[in-house]
Amino acid sequence: MEQIINELSSLVENACKLQSNIFGYGIWSHHIKPMIPLGQKLAEEYGADQEIVTIAILLHDLVSIEDEKNCKEHHIIGAERAEKILNRYNYPKDKIEKIKLCIQNHRSSVNNNKNSIEEICVADADAIIHLTEISSLFYAAYKEMNKSIEEGQKWIKEKIERDYKKLSERSKKKYKNEFCVIINLLGTE
Ligand SMILES: [Fe+2]
Ligand SMILES: [Fe+2]
Repeated sequence: MEQIINELSSLVENACKLQSNIFGYGIWSHHIKPMIPLGQKLAEEYGADQEIVTIAILLHDLVSIEDEKNCKEHHIIGAERAEKILNRYNYPKDKIEKIKLCIQNHRSSVNNNKNSIEEICVADADAIIHLTEISSLFYAAYKEMNKSIEEGQKWIKEKIERDYKKLSERSKKKYKNEFCVIINLLGTE
């Protein structure tokens, strides 16, 4: 398990280093990389399979990083791409199916039914990471999207609120404090 995870980490990190990656290296250093220990911690607490969660986290945004044209459908295209990659490793088919579902259902903006605990762990980690790596949202708002101070505040606040709403009940309870602190910091209009 360790070898495949190391190899997939290098594959994704290298894709993040390319000029063609519109998100910059930060999507590795401040999104995917910190999502791994977070997802593993959730998996441990919620009784999910850590290997499935880890591999799904590594691959969940890969196709958007490789080509911005994939962004809109990256949950669908990403699941197919994960299958191709994992087949190269002769990875067990039943586990590939579980990983594909985690990727297909990771987006809080796309209303999918999450059926397995692994899917919940990946989707929760994808949202919680915005709370714990809040600086990356400031970077996205002010640097990448060039927003004004007010627009940026509003955008970040709405994004955090959307993320929080879509969390599982268990994660909502666990991260309530962080959520309230950030919402208070961003101020009210
Ligand atoms: Fe995503
Ligand atoms: Fe993500």
